[in-house]
Amino acid sequence: MIYVLKIYFLGGIWHMKFGHFDDQTREYVIETPKTPYPWINYLGSEAFFGLISNTAGGYCFYKDARLRRITRYRYNNVPIDMGGRYFYINDNGTVWNPGWSPVKTELDAYECRHGMGYTIITGKKNDLKAQVTFFVPNGYDGEVQQVVLTNEGSSAKTFKLFSFAEWCLWDAQDDCTNFQRNFSTGRVEVDGSVIYHKTEYRDRRNHYAFYSVNDAIDGYDTDRDSFIGLYNGFNNPEAVLAGKATDSFADGWSPIASHYKEITLAAGESKTLIFVLGYVEMPVDQKFEADGKTINKVKAKAMIEKFDTPEKVAAGLADLKASWDKLLGILNVTTPDDKVDRMVNIWNQYQCMVTFNLSRSASYFESGIGRGMGFRDSNQDILGFVHQIPDRAKERIIDIASTQFPDGGCYHQYQPLTKKGNADIGGDFSDDPLWLILSVSAYIKETGDWSILDEMVPYDNDMSVAQTMLEHLKVSFYHIVNNLGPHGLPLAMRADWNDCINLSCYSDTPGESFQTYTNPKFKAEGGYSKVAESVMVATLFTYTGPNYVAILKHLGKDDEAAAAQAEIDKMKKNIMESAWDGDWFLRAYDANGEKMGSKECEEGQIFIEPQGFAIMSDVGKEQGADKKTLAAIDERLNTEFGLVLNNPAFTKYYIQYGEISTYPGGYKENAGIFTHNNAWIICAEAYAGRGEKAFEYYSKIAPAFTEETSDIHKTEPYVYGQMIGGKDAQNFGQGKNSWLTGTAAWNMVAISQYILGVKPEFDGLRVDPSIPAAWDGFTATRQFRGDTYEITIKNPDHVNKGVKSLTVDGKAVDGCIVPVSGDGQTHKVEVVLG
Ligand code: BGC
Ligand code: NOJ
Repeated sequence: MIYVLKIYFLGGIWHMKFGHFDDQTREYVIETPKTPYPWINYLGSEAFFGLISNTAGGYCFYKDARLRRITRYRYNNVPIDMGGRYFYINDNGTVWNPGWSPVKTELDAYECRHGMGYTIITGKKNDLKAQVTFFVPNGYDGEVQQVVLTNEGSSAKTFKLFSFAEWCLWDAQDDCTNFQRNFSTGRVEVDGSVIYHKTEYRDRRNHYAFYSVNDAIDGYDTDRDSFIGLYNGFNNPEAVLAGKATDSFADGWSPIASHYKEITLAAGESKTLIFVLGYVEMPVDQKFEADGKTINKVKAKAMIEKFDTPEKVAAGLADLKASWDKLLGILNVTTPDDKVDRMVNIWNQYQCMVTFNLSRSASYFESGIGRGMGFRDSNQDILGFVHQIPDRAKERIIDIASTQFPDGGCYHQYQPLTKKGNADIGGDFSDDPLWLILSVSAYIKETGDWSILDEMVPYDNDMSVAQTMLEHLKVSFYHIVNNLGPHGLPLAMRADWNDCINLSCYSDTPGESFQTYTNPKFKAEGGYSKVAESVMVATLFTYTGPNYVAILKHLGKDDEAAAAQAEIDKMKKNIMESAWDGDWFLRAYDANGEKMGSKECEEGQIFIEPQGFAIMSDVGKEQGADKKTLAAIDERLNTEFGLVLNNPAFTKYYIQYGEISTYPGGYKENAGIFTHNNAWIICAEAYAGRGEKAFEYYSKIAPAFTEETSDIHKTEPYVYGQMIGGKDAQNFGQGKNSWLTGTAAWNMVAISQYILGVKPEFDGLRVDPSIPAAWDGFTATRQFRGDTYEITIKNPDHVNKGVKSLTVDGKAVDGCIVPVSGDGQTHKVEVVLG
């Protein structure tokens, strides 16, 4: 097979990329199945979801990746990424898959197009072309798979097609642990060309799944061992090799669904088959037909009929694309750099929507059974997608705030199905409440809808103790003020944003969770040290606090505003008195009252987290703290692949710090390049007017820029990962934990609001870019509070920052905030920098 690999000579080394961006169709086109890691996409954005790799690996689930897992997937498998929705072709003894895997027969041509909510995989072998389009239509609880087979040869061809899906027995955790039971529960039904997965349906479940095809079949298999063979694998299923299904019927063991069909195509002829992998819920009294046994298939049949012709599929796909046009039409930019454009206009916004849908639950690094929704994570995600779906953002904010406690503390996680706080993980993460202030402010700034502050929101999901959202903000703000340590800095509690700095843990027992374990040593003090303090929470407080003050002022509550401002001022003073290390801000005081993140430390002398927020809230600005800090970051944390989290990396276990020092240097929180908080420095550089540095840091981590070094970066060049190996790591520059990370939202903020400088504020749309001086300018279209703003930025003097003049529809405006006109019209905004 001829793989078109692009080879580059960069920085003295040869590099490779494995595909290209098609900005017109908003697709990433993968040109080889052998990517350096599986490169995935997400299908679905409402209730039915699928993860799909470039070789059709992955799985689907309904709403909850743990409790309603529909197809099975084995994480950390050997070889990697085994299990998915597979089509096998047996063409006179040559067996292959359109997506190359799992048979891995070399193809004559291969291509995978990951688009917005759909994936198209095309393979070609011996003049037979197979193109499979996978998507979850809007408002539909199923995955549609359209297979188009074309005989590109000059004579007729007869071959055999097999579909394949392996059912998961619903609870993904139980499915991979409780074999003594599971090997005897699997049940199926076959009706014409539809295979039903009805495991446990007879008993307590009101849901089943099905796999259908819109044509007559010549056979089927529903029992895995009959189809694959006990000693074979996905790469050589016995039935496929034999060229015939066995019509097996699963009874216990592992139920699967495979259709078999013999197909003849004349030279040049095409055939289209439409498969649907669907999920159905039935009211309890309608679960069965009159015999009380056969499952009621009315809903499944209606679903199948919805997409049983190519025309219907085309319409469903067009509808999906139209909804993305709308979502991505709200913010659009044209800059001198097409990599920036494709991040801002397409992929970064797309990833923000995926983090809205999935939070941190299911990716190729998150197993779907580990975590619920994070209080801090989901609040930060809001920043990235609030402009796209403000109503759903509001609903989400209310859900999150409902898991707060009356004193402002919060459950660290909540469950998506119940929306209740997760008691197993508990609370006492010191940063959590502050992110609520930020998300509510972002919502109001975007929409101008102040009524969110009047919403009655429960505490701990108990409506009888509900208070207004404004009150929730107040308890959030004062949760910090009421929990200060010896230096007047916020107590670090269980952990702050960095889950791996566990200053009250002191764990020396293997297997103890750093996140949930509380050392008995601190029991008497309420669970955590009353000495350990977080400088990061202090600066996050001075950064978010002014939003709360502005809200109070808007409401005419001047006394409360003044009181809150006094707390912010006091905190700034305390920071400069006790947390300024001379050239940067300290990270923390540990439970012994020792400095963490200081020149005085042997390792971990400087940390990234507190710095950006300090700069953006002008802490110590009059003493030049901002410039000194930014210089120190550049000197100590900057690398060719981004900014490391801390330096020097920890080389031994520090019991007083916790998990951070358990990672080998250069990985994760121990001096990895955490792209999430790179964004805070990008924002700070832009805020400080240093457009060059801001852009340098941005372009080191933005996926489109990492594309040309895909061989090193390894993960998808179209989305951010949580982490890139840092300079202390052997795998320096290698991306990990792609897709589900707060990095998506924060880098969206960094590029669109700080570098390009189009930033919603309470009283209008700020336009105040901080760009590379070489840029002549750029244009942006922004829908905002019902109006459309066509913004042109001109940079004749080639500066980084500074608005010399701003006009709206030809009229000069003072400052750089475009006032809200609210007339539903299009307005022309012209900004000249200088
Ligand atoms: C990881 C963190 C994560 C935490 C909680 C730690 O092991 O390093 O990134 O936030 O677990 O799941
Ligand atoms: C990932 C977690 O989802 C997030 O909440 C945390 O802030 C970072 N890791 C840093 O530890």
